[in-house]
Amino acid sequence: MLKTIVLIGMMGSGKTSVGKELAKKLKVAFIDVDQEIEKKYQMNIPEIFETKGESFFRKIEENISCKLINGKPCVISLGGGSFLNKRIRNKIKINAISIWINTELDKIYKRLNESKNRRPLLNYKNLKKSIKEIYDKRKPIYKKADYKIQIKSDNKKLIVENIIKKL
Ligand code: S3P
Repeated sequence: MLKTIVLIGMMGSGKTSVGKELAKKLKVAFIDVDQEIEKKYQMNIPEIFETKGESFFRKIEENISCKLINGKPCVISLGGGSFLNKRIRNKIKINAISIWINTELDKIYKRLNESKNRRPLLNYKNLKKSIKEIYDKRKPIYKKADYKIQIKSDNKKLIVENIIKKL
């Protein structure tokens, strides 16, 4: 594998689970940027948002994502907001291949509603609306990815086969 593959898309779209499976298939390392941030700061993402603020989080997200994209070819799962950052997008354009994991919003809603991993940007009192608003705002940017994978099923193996076919 010559270039790093970067998975982008909404929170709850399945970037991490698909990324792990894809990396296994391609026999390369898998890196989840949010997990790298949590390891480095010894705090979970909601704690970072709460104590340091979103702009601090976005700055470290930018630095860590860019560093990882510059590294050895691997599969990287980016946080849902990363691709909105122009510096990260440019880095990806030069050094990597981007894949938008575009999962049906109903599926995303179900996952996020059941997940213990609370996302600080979401309004859980009106989760469906909150997801739709963020998705509509981000869609034009996510569309800039090199490839789009439409996700309707939970079958990771099938999704990975689809990705490999596209590549
Ligand atoms: C965010 C997505 C999260 C995490 C943070 C912000 C976003 O990552 O980086 O809560 O702006 O969409 P996941 O996409 O892995 O949930």
